[in-house]
Amino acid sequence: MLPTSDTIAIIGAGSVGSAIAQSLLLRKIVADLILVDIDTELCNAQVQDLADAAYLSNVRIRQGTSAEAGQSNIIVVTAGAKQRENDTRMSLIDRNYAILENILSSMKPIREDAILVLVANPVDVLTYFAQKLSGLPQSQVFGSGTLLDSIRLRAILASKLKVADTSVSAYVIGEHGDSQCVAWSTANVHGTPYLSLFPIDEEERAKVAAITKRKAYEIIKAKGFTSYGIAAVASTICECIVFDQRRVFPLSHWQNDFGCCLSLPAVLGRSGIVSTLPIPLDQEETSALAQSGASIKDIISKYDV
Ligand code: LAC
Repeated sequence: MLPTSDTIAIIGAGSVGSAIAQSLLLRKIVADLILVDIDTELCNAQVQDLADAAYLSNVRIRQGTSAEAGQSNIIVVTAGAKQRENDTRMSLIDRNYAILENILSSMKPIREDAILVLVANPVDVLTYFAQKLSGLPQSQVFGSGTLLDSIRLRAILASKLKVADTSVSAYVIGEHGDSQCVAWSTANVHGTPYLSLFPIDEEERAKVAAITKRKAYEIIKAKGFTSYGIAAVASTICECIVFDQRRVFPLSHWQNDFGCCLSLPAVLGRSGIVSTLPIPLDQEETSALAQSGASIKDIISKYDV
């Protein structure tokens, strides 16, 4: 693949931002990457290190300013306090809202066709605030949401069936966090309902959902952060935007029905979120999604944005 002439800016040069930069650099999605961090010394070191890997792909990576980031085609926001052992993602909101506010004001004026991809947590709440504070259209501001959770779920389900992960369609929806829920009724393998191929009872379904939800906590407990999974997700999101692939991903984006941003299947293209696709849920799943939306909205309501 020849890298396009687009520019992607990554805000935050920590474990997540640098992993996203490496993933983008090796996948050759764009010709130019900009890495921005308030810690300019760290940012410079990350750029120097990543530049050594750039010989593999001829992608240019450099340290940039917030103003330059604001003029990029795609802006990936990773900066923020990270989840520590036993922290919920929601517990980061006060610190990361303040960081987001600073980032957006320092990027202004933001290019009017820029796509803003939120990765920092709590991603659903930060996505809502990023759209309000940036003034960009709702379709151009979205978060990685439960795409990573859905990938984790599909891996478990695929292993039970001994098929490739990519052959299983299954969605985690709602909050990228503790109130997330699994859309079991739509899980399928090339159109055949998963639960008819591999009937698992309610107890086992709850166990699979819990393992999916807890995965980040387990990784953080052992290594202090997660990075490679979210980096693969973020670079796949960028690839879908750059090449207008119109793939369907569960992304955190504005939902009129819930008055907040949360993850439901969305068509993603060059202009951002093209549309939200309906997902048929059973009564239990509908109720769980409503509860997830309410918990996100509860946090948002504490801020006057
Ligand atoms: C995780 C982070 C990205 O789930 O929230 O790994």
